Order: sequence, then C-alpha cells, then structure tokens
Amino acid sequence: MKIGIGSDHGGFELKEYIKEYLDGIGVECVDYGTYSSDSVDYPDYGKKVAEAVVAKEVDRAIAICGTGIGISISCNKVKGIRCALCGDTYSARMSREHNDANILALGGRVVGKDLALEIVAAWLNAEFAGGRHGRRVKKISEIEL
Ligand code: RB5
Repeated sequence: MKIGIGSDHGGFELKEYIKEYLDGIGVECVDYGTYSSDSVDYPDYGKKVAEAVVAKEVDRAIAICGTGIGISISCNKVKGIRCALCGDTYSARMSREHNDANILALGGRVVGKDLALEIVAAWLNAEFAGGRHGRRVKKISEIEL
C-alpha cells in the first residue's frame, strides 16, 4: 500500500513523526509537503494530497494541520474524496469500515504523537465493510454530481 502524506506548518512535526513510523513498518509513503515549519496555507496541501488520491498516485493519504479541521474541509472539496478527521482509534477504524475514508485527517496540535500513531495504525489496518455501507457511500458520491 502506498500512502500520501501532507500537512501545513501546524502539522509538520507530526507529519515527520508519522513518516518515520510508516518507514519503520515498511509502508511506502509519498510526502506532498510542506517541508519545513514555515507558515503556509493548509488548503494548498489538502488539495495536493486529495488530488494525488483521486489520480491514484497513492492508495490513500494522511492530511494534517493544526486542528485537522481546515485541511479536512479542503480535502473534502475534491470530488471523490472522503476525508475523516479522527482523534480516536474507534473513529479511525469506523471511517474505513463504514465510510471508506480515503484520507485520514489529524490535528497536529490536538493529538499526542503516540495516540496519532495508534490512530494511523487503526486506519491503515481497517478495510471497507461494503454491504449496506456501500449503498450509503454511493449516496455520498451522488451528492457530488
Ligand atoms: C494554522 O495556524 C492553523 O489555522 C491550521 O493549521 C489549521 O488548524 C486550520 O484549520
């Protein structure tokens, strides 16, 4: 599985920490920036990771800003994206099983680093359950038309 990752300055530190973790567990990761803690605008990075997922450059992605709110809103503006902002492992797992979330958003100034890794692990290891959830996710896509 190839994972894209992107953040603004508020998520930069957590992005680097998650990259090390993904490297350690052998998950290939493409970094879409930002590449320093200099101030940038989160919509630019939300757009980059979301477009990478839609273009199938990566299978799924992780998007981080200070709260996770701005970047998740930005990602969800891109057609085909289901970005879930998660602060706990249960929501992360359910966002895959029930919502087929293709981007996980995190708040770099909200979640502790080790909790963030547990959230990432729960999200990476969970699969979409399909069935009745497929019908609901299809209805989400229909809203985009
Ligand atoms: C940047 O200061 C901050 O607004 C951003 O990282 C994010 O929290 C926005 O939702």
